[in-house]
Amino acid sequence: MQRTNYAGLIDENYVGQTVTLQGWVQKRRDLGALIFVDLRDREGLVQLTFSDDISGAALKIADQLRTEFVIEVEGIVTLREAGINSNLRSGKVEVQVQTAKILATAKTTPFNIDDDVDAADELRLKYRYLDLRRPVMQKNIRIRSKITAATHEFLDANGFIDIETPYLAKSTPEGARDYLVPSRVNPGSFYALPQSPQLFKQLLMGAGFDRYYQVARAFRDEDLRGDRQPEFTQLDVETSFMNQSEIIALVNKWVAAIMQKTVNYELETGTIPMLTWQESMDRFGTDKPDLRFGMELIDLTAFMQDSSFSVFAKAVENQGQVKTIVVPGVADDYSRKDLDKKAQYVERFGAKGLPWLKVTAEGLKGPIAKFFSDNEEALIATTQAQVGDLLIFAADQASVVAGSLDALRRMFAKEQDMIDEQKWAFAWIIDWPLFEYQPEEDRWISAHHPFTMPNEADLELLETVEGAHQAHAQSYDLVLNGYELGSGSIRIHRMDIQEKMLTALGFTPEAAQEAFGFLLEGMEYGFPPMGGIALGLDRLAMILAGTENIREVIAFPKNSKGSEPMTEAPLPVSKQQLAELELTAPIYADTKAPNLAEE
Ligand code: AMO
Ligand code: AMP
Repeated sequence: MQRTNYAGLIDENYVGQTVTLQGWVQKRRDLGALIFVDLRDREGLVQLTFSDDISGAALKIADQLRTEFVIEVEGIVTLREAGINSNLRSGKVEVQVQTAKILATAKTTPFNIDDDVDAADELRLKYRYLDLRRPVMQKNIRIRSKITAATHEFLDANGFIDIETPYLAKSTPEGARDYLVPSRVNPGSFYALPQSPQLFKQLLMGAGFDRYYQVARAFRDEDLRGDRQPEFTQLDVETSFMNQSEIIALVNKWVAAIMQKTVNYELETGTIPMLTWQESMDRFGTDKPDLRFGMELIDLTAFMQDSSFSVFAKAVENQGQVKTIVVPGVADDYSRKDLDKKAQYVERFGAKGLPWLKVTAEGLKGPIAKFFSDNEEALIATTQAQVGDLLIFAADQASVVAGSLDALRRMFAKEQDMIDEQKWAFAWIIDWPLFEYQPEEDRWISAHHPFTMPNEADLELLETVEGAHQAHAQSYDLVLNGYELGSGSIRIHRMDIQEKMLTALGFTPEAAQEAFGFLLEGMEYGFPPMGGIALGLDRLAMILAGTENIREVIAFPKNSKGSEPMTEAPLPVSKQQLAELELTAPIYADTKAPNLAEE
């Protein structure tokens, strides 16, 4: 029998109609001569009524039904006499079943197929196909599909050409570690899975396609966090002959189309704030500020230079900063012990303490209040703090101050419910430094990637390596609700500039040839000016779905250890497979790989 309707879409409009439905048994209530079954499909639930009055045969089948059985029923939609459920689209009706058929039976599931499941993450991932049956997961996964559909529609309408680039590619030093794939026909040689289609899309501009896009998987072997996966999806675009502001204007329209089609939100692109990187760091301590709330960082460096509190005075003396955030109206909510805990938390950013003050009707209170007896009023005036406010300070090198106060700003906002969850706070961060210093490795790396064009005015700085490190870039990030949603830049399309850039990055001409020779050679055959961006599909879906865990919007994600609990990948492989690839793996020598080991 052919399905006539989705269960979840049945409502009063169908009363009197005969429908055929297929789906899963959510719940069964057995009243003897009357059995109610909630039938679930991807659109929701509808109540089925089985009774002797309508069909004894169907009632017999209903008797055998258990949760998660797959069934097919035919029946008439009628208005419910009682038990109206206003939370359901189908809550006013039920289907009086005339015929029923069991299509599949089901074992008892390891957890309930329900939105408020309390199963551990690992169990949910092991039985992901069951987890994905839950309505919230169905909704999350469908958000992705809406985003990509809106993307295809918008970009196609704007002349972008969807072009696939290789997944089996060359290892290029782009930032993260590569995933390598051994080549059987070229023993000892490896492909790398692309960290992004970056070089290929530039070559496609060189090839004259003018506007490229791709919903592309990217692979990065890096430590995982809540908003990171080892394989993720980029909405990747590149255009020729457009400058930064033209690209930003285009991306704004694209994102507005996505917002409209996914969450029915009219994004007013003219109101998206544009901050320079420096301004973002100064005001929020981060390059991805959450603009859904205020509590901006206040710079007190000048104010504190002669402070009698030596921690502050010393920070200024050592070319550091003193900054504060004013947490409004919470002075009484945090005890000394609570604040000690926060001090411990910010140690990870290098902070050696967490000075604080409370503003009371009697003036400043707290362990360091005594140092402000002289300039209490000036401090209150400068920070515009009110009675009841809590002042949280950081005094150290700029990076420590930024890291600590950014984290605390977000933490207090969350604890104090200061975040308007209805808001979509987009921002563009522009004018990034071209390079960034990596203290752990004591070297300079590209802040975006090695193909990013410096600002026109900074081109001369590239003449020396030291100068290059001061240059700023034509790069731009799109931020949403405190997440880096996308990142892009104008690219270097001229060999002479690219060579200088690679030199500043520490590449010898030979190393540059080896790594990117094909791109450099291409540039000698007339590359157009070009630029682009990649938006993180998973992150966008995560934010639009209202979750902070990227796994909730990926059908089959990796866990925090980079493995996939359902298939158990990655796993050892057989000696035979290794031998074919001419790989020997001493650590596996004694391991019996599953299944294939003895073949
Ligand atoms: P970038 O490396 O900034 O830029 O990546 C673009 C966007 O991809 C998302 N993203 C991730 N999402 C989930 N898990 C990850 N591990 C992960 N890493 C990145 C982010 C990020 O903004 N080729 C350039 C783009 C360009 O210049 O056009 C690039 O890959 O949302
Ligand atoms: P103390 O004078 O040691 O009682 O510290 C007063 C306040 O300053 C406490 O809240 C400490 O957390 C903070 N503090 C002490 N030393 C430092 C430091 N080196 N950097 C930042 N804060 C500090």
